Amino acid sequence: MGRVSIPDLTKKYEDGDSLTMLTAYDAPLARQIDTGGVDMILVGDSAGDNHLGYDDTLQVTLDEALSNTAAVDRAVEDAMVIGDMPFLSYGMSLKKSVENAGRFMKEAGADAVKLETAPYGETTVEIVSRLTELGMPVVGHIGLTPQRMNQIGGGYVQGRGDGSSATVEALVETAEQLEEAGAFSIILEAVTEETGKLVTEAVNIPTIGIGAGRYVDGQVLVLTDVLGLNEESYRFSKQYTDLNSIIQEAVESYVDDVREGEFPSQENVFDAVDEETK
Ligand code: KIV
Ligand code: NA
Repeated sequence: MGRVSIPDLTKKYEDGDSLTMLTAYDAPLARQIDTGGVDMILVGDSAGDNHLGYDDTLQVTLDEALSNTAAVDRAVEDAMVIGDMPFLSYGMSLKKSVENAGRFMKEAGADAVKLETAPYGETTVEIVSRLTELGMPVVGHIGLTPQRMNQIGGGYVQGRGDGSSATVEALVETAEQLEEAGAFSIILEAVTEETGKLVTEAVNIPTIGIGAGRYVDGQVLVLTDVLGLNEESYRFSKQYTDLNSIIQEAVESYVDDVREGEFPSQENVFDAVDEETK
């Protein structure tokens, strides 16, 4: 059958079916969410704080992102795997951007790459155009773009129309430029619901929202938020289970068992007739 392709996504989009995306950074969880049936798995640079123990996304290196993407690629059968290009792995020059995007596809097995674009981000729009011309599918990402956090100053909702966030016009025009450049989808992060609707109406490629309201073509969430593997919770997200508690309980039980001599038990030990460890 092969993995979800751009024509598969286009068909769903044209049929009005909402597209689903989750992040993953490692093989075991990627395998689980692939089996769960998402259309797309984003190996986000949100790995910075959700997988690698950094404070934010800015420190994630290209090698770390490639390693995470390769792990996810090895585990996934059905979903489209999208490699998220980390801070300063693109933009320094067209040549270097193409080379680095190419590494996601050639070395790490990604089916597509994603990169962030500032409002009217000419340089990134040009990169998107070059990558798509060469056969590398690109997802755009606008709105609250965490790689520009030092300029934005915090987790501020974009498109509020109050002068302190990106204007709706800038977001709509940038989305149109990305579509024109060949992006096959655009992620919209932390924008007002009205902005999400206007951008979605302005382009003929699927918009995928995270904190972008209901009038977009699909949704993406960060897996650790969904699974309750985070200390923090966000209003735009939804926690579907509480893995932190489940894992704590399991670890405490193990520690108790070992201390009380309950593990290993008879069934866990070898004697001379056992050949294999299974
Ligand atoms: O890195 C990430 O997880 C992302 C999503 C939040 C869109 O970019
Ligand atoms: Na990201």
